Amino acid sequence: MTWAVTIVVVEWAHVVAALPYELANQDAVAWLQTLPAASVDLLITDPAYESLEKHRAVGTTTRLKHSKASSNDWFTIFPNARFGELFAEVYRVLKDDTHFYLLCDAETMFVAKPEAERAGFKFWKPLVWDKCTIGMGYHYRARYEFVLFFEKGKRKLNDLGVPDVMAVPRIRGGYPAEKPPEVAEILIKQSSEPGDVVCDPFMGSGSVGVASLRLGRRFIGNDLNAEAVRIASQRLREFGEGRVPEGLPEEVPPPQADLFDEVRLKPDTTYGR
Ligand SMILES: C[S@@+](CC[C@H](N)C(=O)[O-])C[C@H]1O[C@@H](n2cnc3c(N)ncnc32)[C@H](O)[C@@H]1O
Repeated sequence: MTWAVTIVVVEWAHVVAALPYELANQDAVAWLQTLPAASVDLLITDPAYESLEKHRAVGTTTRLKHSKASSNDWFTIFPNARFGELFAEVYRVLKDDTHFYLLCDAETMFVAKPEAERAGFKFWKPLVWDKCTIGMGYHYRARYEFVLFFEKGKRKLNDLGVPDVMAVPRIRGGYPAEKPPEVAEILIKQSSEPGDVVCDPFMGSGSVGVASLRLGRRFIGNDLNAEAVRIASQRLREFGEGRVPEGLPEEVPPPQADLFDEVRLKPDTTYGR
């Protein structure tokens, strides 16, 4: 008698195929390391970059009262010194001919761009998310954030008529530094197809996940903060059953102010003099 042995290779992307989303609660780099190479179609992320901490230390945000509204109580900062290992993993998990979008401020852009290029990405340009109303700062109060547009290999945008400034009103009173899903929706429509896997290793409240599922993509997301993962899993539930980590906190916190919402002080026009 002869025995035929069939080896079934189950790729990670196939495992999630039946599920609209899968969430994790780990360090971003450690989590990305668990994903197979070339398993992601698009990565959009908004890390807790270091300059948020700096603003807190030297300027505006020192005036934030230490409350749950401060990101201090919510998330730890991801140091710029770790961008090298982060971008190496982002590059590895992305398929060939894909896009990577990184939300950050101007200061972080100058650090992140060369690190991402070292990892192998081509940098195209910063896109601008116009939040439509002013936020933090003492002079030229911040009204925009950058979205750095990177490419692995070559991938055409789906619509060449979309401008590089995206005017979408900011979210108030949500998770600290929560982004409106409509920003991610523009990027997802441009750089993926229905059924694709969209990834966010610093997902916070899961806005990229909401945008992905609204557009018929699958989503894999992660955050170090268990509370963030719980909020994200609650938001994504309306799109069906997904895989979420066990033991997430059950408490529903009261609505939080945005990280910078409490900066309603009169602008300081002395410019530090
Ligand atoms: C700016 S917030 C993301 C907000 C998100 N875009 C939203 O719309 O809610 C950054 C997130 O990074 C998370 N974070 C910080 N360090 C991390 C790390 N080492 N690994 C994974 N997540 C981390 C924080 O917990 C925080 O939720």
